[in-house]
Amino acid sequence: MSETAPSLGKDLVGLESLGREELTAILDTAEPFKEISERRIKKVPVLRGKTIVNLFFEPSTRTRISFEFAEKRLSADTVNISSTGSSVTKGETLVDTARNLEAMRIDMVVMRHGASGAARFLADRIPSNVVNAGDGRHEHPTQGLLDILTIRDNLGTLEGVKVCIVGDVVHSRVARSNIYGLLTLGAEVAVCGPPTLVPGSFRELGVEVFQHVEDAIQWADVLNILRLQLERMEAGYVPSLREYNRIWGVSTERLEKAPHDLLILHPGPMNRGVEIDSDVADGEHSVILDQVTNGVAVRMAVLYLLAGGRPEKAEAAKKGGGPS
Ligand code: CP
Repeated sequence: MSETAPSLGKDLVGLESLGREELTAILDTAEPFKEISERRIKKVPVLRGKTIVNLFFEPSTRTRISFEFAEKRLSADTVNISSTGSSVTKGETLVDTARNLEAMRIDMVVMRHGASGAARFLADRIPSNVVNAGDGRHEHPTQGLLDILTIRDNLGTLEGVKVCIVGDVVHSRVARSNIYGLLTLGAEVAVCGPPTLVPGSFRELGVEVFQHVEDAIQWADVLNILRLQLERMEAGYVPSLREYNRIWGVSTERLEKAPHDLLILHPGPMNRGVEIDSDVADGEHSVILDQVTNGVAVRMAVLYLLAGGRPEKAEAAKKGGGPS
């Protein structure tokens, strides 16, 4: 690992602004942290004394819980706030909420919010570190990182690997973080789905666009299959769920026509029988649960680096040291 890996700075808002060295530093820092979750006592004192607030204005299972595990395994003190249980329901603004938290002397905020740009907005207004846990359609950087780590673990490299993101790309913050991170790290990226969900304008980001999933399967080494956002179906993006599955669903029958085996990812939550069939989700080439496992290590790495930790000291830190 490079002795001169750049610092992440104060916040992690997205992968678009990160260079190859910064992305690699996060992935390499996650590697030693994986082992902590395999221990009988899953705790190291890396973030002892740090206070982290998890502020979730939208529902979440994987992201919220894995951030909380990451924080607790690094010995931080954590508080969870959701919009329904907070004074946001009484009309308090995001900035006022955050300033009140600051007044209690917190160190970091992990935030999920429905508005694109909310993480940047907050990061520019409070001194605490801000980690974006998903903002509108903009970015979901730790999901992108855990997807990329899972691909690197399984294929040994990202350079030249062909990754196709299949499904509801237009509404997806996961797609954008994957596209930015993968392209920076040397992968080739494509997107695939109906034109309503995968507009041709995505080519401007430097990706290939497929409208037929059969073509994507012929091209790709990896499929990252996105949830069809069922709550948006009334807007007429696809004729019906049955029709979507028939035309774009990833099935064993379709994968058998690929020139070689494809690695299967899905960020969750899955709609089985819609964008992905159960035998693919649970099949031998699926790494969907590995993504979830890697999510804890990636989030540990991000929190450690934002707290001032150095990538080259992560191995020593997990044996009992502080962040730097
Ligand atoms: N992948 C993902 O963000 O899942 P959650 O919405 O459950 O956090």
